Amino acid sequence: MAEIRRIGVLTSGGDCAGLNAVIRAVAFRGVNGYGWKVLGILDGTQGLMSRPLRYIELGADTFRGRDILRSGGTLLGTVNKGNPFAYPMPDGSVRDLSMDFVDGFHQLELDGLIVVGGDGSLRILRKLCEKGMLPMVGIPKTIDNDVKGTEAAVGYSTAVDVVTDALDRLQATAASHHRAMILEVMGRDAGHIALNAGISGGADVILIPEMPYTLEGIAERIRYVQQVEGRSHALIVVAEGVKRPSGAAATVHYSDGETRYGGVANDLSEAIYLMTGIETRVSILGHVQRGGTPSMRDRLLASAFGVHAVDLLAQGKHDRMVAWQHRGVVDVPLEEVCVGPRCVQPDDPLLNTARGLGIYVGDFPEPHAGSGKSKKTKSLSEE
Ligand code: F6P
Repeated sequence: MAEIRRIGVLTSGGDCAGLNAVIRAVAFRGVNGYGWKVLGILDGTQGLMSRPLRYIELGADTFRGRDILRSGGTLLGTVNKGNPFAYPMPDGSVRDLSMDFVDGFHQLELDGLIVVGGDGSLRILRKLCEKGMLPMVGIPKTIDNDVKGTEAAVGYSTAVDVVTDALDRLQATAASHHRAMILEVMGRDAGHIALNAGISGGADVILIPEMPYTLEGIAERIRYVQQVEGRSHALIVVAEGVKRPSGAAATVHYSDGETRYGGVANDLSEAIYLMTGIETRVSILGHVQRGGTPSMRDRLLASAFGVHAVDLLAQGKHDRMVAWQHRGVVDVPLEEVCVGPRCVQPDDPLLNTARGLGIYVGDFPEPHAGSGKSKKTKSLSEE
């Protein structure tokens, strides 16, 4: 087993709450636990691709007087574009800069790399590390919570808290004005945020990318709220990755060449008003979900992940990702993780919870139905 003296840590992909707590845990364990030098690579892969190399040494000086455990964002910076294998150059051409990354690793005389990223970043970083035979350990982070192999990723719990808080605030104004408030939240492929916060925040309708819906299904729930429950307001949560009523993806093409999600709530707003007559308003929460003070849960996860990732490198283990399973930290092979997003499954118990509360969650067949019931959720009004 090669002796370790220096390791690098980088954050890659969209930021989220809890990243600084991860960096802190990695540095504390590496420096205090093993006597290593721990270098923080700046701006994700960019720090190792740039010349001069961009990094900082992480030690007591970095953390002294800084409330790092509690702070949002990442002190190392991050990027969520510019794949090193197809890097967009200023002249419009695309170049493979992957070897610059590998050379950067060697120039810093690193013996291992800890990558904090979502499923896309972990996939690209794994490919880079395979190419250069660099020992890598991954730490999952993403507010979308869609990394395979782990029940929780850093940043998710804080985002769910933010969305739940937003629903609490919207409830009051919805009730005052007798409106349906539509809250659009993040979640491109997976609806974990919408589903979990929607239940916690008392939503009447939760739309997630994994579940087809009908406008009639939504309207039926609103009418039930009005006519049976005698309530003149409603809360609707929709994930950004949900398709528009027309079936088209709710994406916008920007002049920087990127395609981003956003806006499905506006389409729904008009359609719901036309079908039910209830006044509607839209809030798009956006990056508010990514910032702010990490929740207790994210701090705990970040700390456990950071320490375990360093311990893995110390044991000579790499090409693995730390993960949270059955109330504890474990590690799993990266190859099992880098195979696409972890979506809400039709048999997710929380879908049953939502349906049990009368929440409209789309028209997917009920997993355990087997009873010949209709595909549509049976509402109390049908009893
Ligand atoms: O992957 C996390 C995520 O927050 C998505 O839910 C969202 O679509 C995306 O990042 C937004 O990224 P950007 O920071 O580029 O706007």
